[in-house]
Amino acid sequence: MWQGAVDRLDRVVADASRAYLQELRNCDVLMDPHAWTRELDRLSRGRPLDYGRPGLPLMYAIRYMPRRVISLLGALAEATSERVPRVLADIGSGTGATIVAMQLRYPTTRLELTGIDASAEMLAFARHTQSGLRHPAFFIEGTIESLIDDPQPIVSSEIVTFSAPFNRAFDQWAPLAEMFDDSAARLILAIEPESRASLLNAFERALRQHGWQTRRASSANLPAFMKAERALPALTRLWRQIGAPGAYQPQTWWEPPADEYLIAARSEGSANAGVSGTAGAYR
Ligand SMILES: C[S@@+](CC[C@H](N)C(=O)[O-])C[C@H]1O[C@@H](n2cnc3c(N)ncnc32)[C@H](O)[C@@H]1O
Repeated sequence: MWQGAVDRLDRVVADASRAYLQELRNCDVLMDPHAWTRELDRLSRGRPLDYGRPGLPLMYAIRYMPRRVISLLGALAEATSERVPRVLADIGSGTGATIVAMQLRYPTTRLELTGIDASAEMLAFARHTQSGLRHPAFFIEGTIESLIDDPQPIVSSEIVTFSAPFNRAFDQWAPLAEMFDDSAARLILAIEPESRASLLNAFERALRQHGWQTRRASSANLPAFMKAERALPALTRLWRQIGAPGAYQPQTWWEPPADEYLIAARSEGSANAGVSGTAGAYR
């Protein structure tokens, strides 16, 4: 069963990568995978990245997306109980890792998924992950800050996710937590590499002040089968075709760093409370 999910993940990312590459060619973008890789390497050195650079999303997806989807599958399993959260907004959705994780986790459920990101280029890649789906996710350009000003695009989402969208200087934690006060959100899931856990600490404090019950988990505790190295043949073929730029190759998992998960649920009795079953597990 797990191997089937890994195979689907491999195909989704590889097919989206090919379609995105074709889009770059159609727009006469200079094909320079080595330069895109050098830009991406800034991420592993903790430097800001230009997510709007054409080509960068391809390198991001090949390098990071399979691992992030697997981490998100673990986080969703940890965070969600018996009730399927059907309506989800993912903020800082990038190439679509959270959306793809939801579609792998609930393949037969009709989901309403929205991805929001500051980068039109990352969104362009993400849209290609939805080709051929009967109920594709919807992607819109926007920022965390614009949602704080006008949360309309997320007010009806039951679950709101943040998978590594925060830059280190982000300090709008109280307004961000307040943004959910009049929303349908009953579950918030935020994920960051453990080296950036201070971002989750700040978010957690703000959410607790707004009546959310929170707990933390880690990818360190994911089952061994999820973290075992599995082949990604479609992505590996594509990687070679574009000249195998960079010292890495497509991989399902590596550590360090582990990912930290912040899971927040509405307190029982709060205005929009809707969480069932999981609250007892929260501190
Ligand atoms: C490290 S990537 C994570 C992408 C995806 N969530 C994942 O887990 O693979 C960070 C993403 O956050 C987006 N981002 C950065 N700052 C943002 C902001 N203030 N508002 C919305 N998106 C932002 C970037 O454009 C980029 O796509």
